[in-house]
Amino acid sequence: MDTIRGAAGPPSCSWTPPSQSSSRSWRRRAASVAEAPSSSVSGLGAAIRKDVPILEQSINGRPLVYLDNAATSQKPLAVIQAMDDYYRHYNSNVHRGVHTLSAKATTAYEEARGKVARFVGAASDREIVFTRNASEAINLVAMTWGMDNLKPGDEIILSVAEHHSNLVPWQLVAQKTGAVLKHVRLTDSQELDMQHLRELVTPSTKLISLVHVSNMLGAVLDVEAVVDAARSVGAKVLLDACQSVPHMAIDVRALGVDWIVASGHKAMAPTGIGFLWGRYELLETMPPWMGGGEMIQDVFLDHSTYAAPPARFEAGTPSIAEAIGLGAACDYLAGIGMEQVHAYEQEIGCYLYERLAALDKVTIYGPPPSAKRGRASLASFNVGGLHATDVSTLLDTAGVAVRSGHHCTQPLHRHLGIPASARASCYIYNTFQEVDLFIDALKETIDFFGEMGME
Ligand SMILES: Cc1ncc(COP(=O)(O)O)c(C=O)c1O
Repeated sequence: MDTIRGAAGPPSCSWTPPSQSSSRSWRRRAASVAEAPSSSVSGLGAAIRKDVPILEQSINGRPLVYLDNAATSQKPLAVIQAMDDYYRHYNSNVHRGVHTLSAKATTAYEEARGKVARFVGAASDREIVFTRNASEAINLVAMTWGMDNLKPGDEIILSVAEHHSNLVPWQLVAQKTGAVLKHVRLTDSQELDMQHLRELVTPSTKLISLVHVSNMLGAVLDVEAVVDAARSVGAKVLLDACQSVPHMAIDVRALGVDWIVASGHKAMAPTGIGFLWGRYELLETMPPWMGGGEMIQDVFLDHSTYAAPPARFEAGTPSIAEAIGLGAACDYLAGIGMEQVHAYEQEIGCYLYERLAALDKVTIYGPPPSAKRGRASLASFNVGGLHATDVSTLLDTAGVAVRSGHHCTQPLHRHLGIPASARASCYIYNTFQEVDLFIDALKETIDFFGEMGME
């Protein structure tokens, strides 16, 4: 089973950029961003960035190099305009009005659900539940299926590499139900250890909930092995697809899992919207979580009956403009083609990794790009002797936006024995030249601290 439809295997990763010239100063290189493509997809970044207005700006007198896409992505005009259009022309509540504006808003909101469903290969629109973000989607499963199905001694398998969003909800459920948490460790190449996963699985295992693509390590999960291990004992599988849905073609039915969760804002859509996909038969068994308008069938003074999914899980007025924005983002990404997106990101991710790896004193976390399933187009790293926040702060003075801290993976940082890391993460609009600008700024940062005797 292949989790990436039509994607080539991981690249050999000895990418030579069109303009790599270590002697040229990054300041001079900043003047020209676009470069001639040297493979079928290598010009994609320069083409896409024309659609993303925020990227055309200077920060601290330097062209913005936005490499914090794993935290949140920038938005194309198509998304901004779709939301603007809703507010200018048909702002109205959904599902509850017979007037023209409400009908139009309802149609657009439900069409957005259909776009998300098609984007991830769902069997039906009704399998998509809109949430505020991925965190809310995991909490939804934890507080409904988890609270309903787990009892003392039941086991939930997570990993040491999970985002806090896929740790804390299960801790809450375990505390309330008496279920036991187990954690898959890493291999020497810092991927999830599938042998260890198989050892952890027992007849008491009821759920395996793992990150598809790690937001810190860039490692890509062997979903097929996880599903096989879970099915051998009848356990359910939840996939945290926050860092895969924006970057590769996802087919939930081919993946064979029970639920996936993702956030719109990492996929060119606005904040305030995410989704849960679940197999419909399973969603139907899940009790409501939040009560309120829209999630009911009939309400009496002392009890209520509930709507079928997905409405059962969407209490109150939803994020209408945001859902419409997410639908527009799905259209936009589907228009590029997710195979193209993934192929481009493999190239630029490889290039990012190789250029960083070539620097003295830099440690990169996660598997190499030559790993069996490749790695995401991000690199978490540390520079010997320097704190990640100091590195990121100095990079910002050069217009380069990277993240520093624990990236909501504190247990993983503890597991790796580091307090923090810096992270550069690419998306479809980043160019190889921006990677060069980042590397040159990083070299200047390292030299600066070296001169101050801080290494
Ligand atoms: C792997 C992963 N899971 C979950 C989340 C949580 O996403 P959100 O904060 O949008 O709910 C993130 C966000 O960084 C993430 O990278």
